[in-house]
Formats: sequence, structure tokens, C-alpha cells
Amino acid sequence: MSAHIIGTGAFVPEQVVTNIDLQRLVDTNDEWIVSRTGIRERRIAEPGQSCSMLGVEAAKRALEDAKVAATDVTHVLVATFSPDAYIPSTAYILREKLGIPRGMAMDVSAACTGFLFALETARAFVALHPEAVVLVVGSEVVSSRLNWEDRGTCVLFGDGAGAVVVTGKPSHGSAEVMDVLLDGDGSLSDLLVVRGGGSATPMKLGQAVAEDFFVQMQGREIFKHAVRSMAAICQRILEKNGLTSSDIDLVVPHQANIRIIESLAGRLDLPMDKVFVNIEKYGNTSAASIPLALAEAREKALIPPGSKVMLTAFGGGLNWAAALLQY
Ligand code: UT7
Repeated sequence: MSAHIIGTGAFVPEQVVTNIDLQRLVDTNDEWIVSRTGIRERRIAEPGQSCSMLGVEAAKRALEDAKVAATDVTHVLVATFSPDAYIPSTAYILREKLGIPRGMAMDVSAACTGFLFALETARAFVALHPEAVVLVVGSEVVSSRLNWEDRGTCVLFGDGAGAVVVTGKPSHGSAEVMDVLLDGDGSLSDLLVVRGGGSATPMKLGQAVAEDFFVQMQGREIFKHAVRSMAAICQRILEKNGLTSSDIDLVVPHQANIRIIESLAGRLDLPMDKVFVNIEKYGNTSAASIPLALAEAREKALIPPGSKVMLTAFGGGLNWAAALLQY
């Protein structure tokens, strides 16, 4: 049973934080951030604007695009590392807010690669249950887990959400999910962590949060692994499907750093006009990055019927993934 993306949607909070704004918080500057990352500004949620709140708005847009009523959704998956709470899952909170009356809901934890892990899970649900209507959301309030005194991380990330609807039946303008490959290496897990508050590093009542409550990473090391692993998994998925990069009309990569994206394009021998980039506006929105970019690429009519689109991501775990879509 093939799985099809029949709708996409995205939502970002209103508040724009520019590089100049960040100069007032940490020892950084616009020139450094733009030249090293490609980021000019990012959206940051208002206090109290949670992961489910962003996700609901993206999901409503995806459902509208798919012409599917919330009441018809059978499965909800939310990829995030910044959930509303430990319990309940953000997927159940989002389900309630959307008025989805039945079916399962769960969060998927794979950091920036989470959306592709959730997409593959949706494909499995559709294979098992041909009538399934799966809502797949990537939503992040990364700002809630950023140390605003650490210039090595706080300038890189942003908040946002993207969503897709996956079913067994194609519709006008839909994309068949041809293939998804997921991979990772736990021996590299120390390169990107949010440890504090987990059961291995529990917090005590009244204790103030420490640096380990926030995203901590070794950026330069991650950079190298990101380029290598995404290029390798893209080559693998192309070969597995009897394709080469010249068959791809558009790559929608995880938006972490423009230099990572350009190196990836170079390794795949793809011109940058075949690579979708919106990092300058949103920064790295983790699990939201790919569905947000995919929705924007569709909105800009960059994906006409007949297009082959390749998605690829990497993130904390470390893990990495690629997917092929046939529009
Ligand atoms: O979704 C996965 C999430 N993780 C990532 O995507 C991270 C991937 N890595 C990267 O994007 C890049 O490695 C960074 C953007 C994080 C850093 O760029 P870089 O070219 O690897 O810089 P660097 O870490 O080698 O640092 C170069 C210099 C250092 O100063 P010194 O030691 O040369 O004096 C840093 O202290 O830049 C300094 N620096 C900054 N300067 C101004 C680090 N952050 C900043 C900053 N503003 N925000």
C-alpha cells in the first residue's frame, strides 16, 4: 500500500528576532551569524506559546490543504524535542485542541530528524491500516531550551511548526512517499545534548536549572558529520530507487546552516537552484524545519506535478534520514 502526502501546512510565531537584536544579548554580530550560518532572523514564541499551539495552527492549514476534516484523522504523530510537557504527549494535547475524536497519538523523539522518522512511521501505519489518515506534525519551541547566554547555540535556532497529512489514497497535487531511509549512530550522542531534567540527571524541588537544561553542542564536529551523513544517505536512497541526483527536481534539506546545505549540494552535484532554502528567515527550527520548508516550497509553486523531491535531515542522536517524494 503506497502512502501519499495529500496536504501541507506551516505556522511560525509573529515575533521576529534579528541578528542585531541578539547583539544586545551575547557577544556576537550580524556579519558573523550571516557568514557562518546564513541566518538573518528567526521567529521566537511568546511566553506561554507552546509546541502544541504552533503545531495546531500548522495542522489546521495542512488539513485545509488536504480537504480533510479533523474528525477524519485516525493517527497523530508530533515530532519534537520541546514538547508541552513530559506527560501527556504533545500529540494528545494537539489532538484535543483540533477536536480529533478517536485514534492514537504519540510524540516522536529524534531531534532535528524527527519529522522524517515520523513520516516513515506514518507510512507504516498506512501500510498496516489502508484507511488511516495520519496527521504528521513537526513543531518546536526550541527557544524554551536555549541558553540565551551561550552564543554558540542561541543564535542558531528558531521556533515554528509544519504539518502534512498522509493517507493511502492520492489526490490532486499529492505526493507519493516513494521511500524513506533512517539511520544513526549513538556513539556520537554527546555532540548534541539536552540532559538536564531527564531521569539520568533529575532535578530536585526548588533547584535552579543549570546549563545542562539547555541545548549543548559541539558545532564544528556536528557540521562535519552532518554533511557526510546526509550526502551518504541521499546517495543510498537514490541508488536504491535506481535514480541519480540529476533526476531530482528539488531537494528540501534540514535548515541548520547554509554552509552545510551548500556542501551537501556540492557532494550531490546539484546546483543550488535545485535546493530549497529559507534558513535566513527562520534559523534552525529542528523537527519543524522540513515540513515548514516543504509547505513554503509548495506555496511558492516550486513543486509542479511530476516533480521528484528529496528530503534530508540530521540531528541529535546523532541520526540522519532521507525521503523521496513523487509529486
Ligand atoms: O540541527 C543540528 C544542530 N546543529 C548544527 O546544525 C550545528 C552545525 N554546526 C554549525 O552550524 C557551525 O559549526 C557553527 C555555526 C555552530 C559554528 O561555525 P564554525 O564555523 O564551525 O565556527 P567555530 O565553532 O569553529 O567558531 C569559530 C569562532 C570561535 O572563536 P575563536 O575560537 O576562533 O576565537 C567561536 O568562539 O567563532 C566564535 N563564535 C562566535 N562568534 C560570534 C562562536 N559562536 C559565535 C557567535 N558570534 N555567535
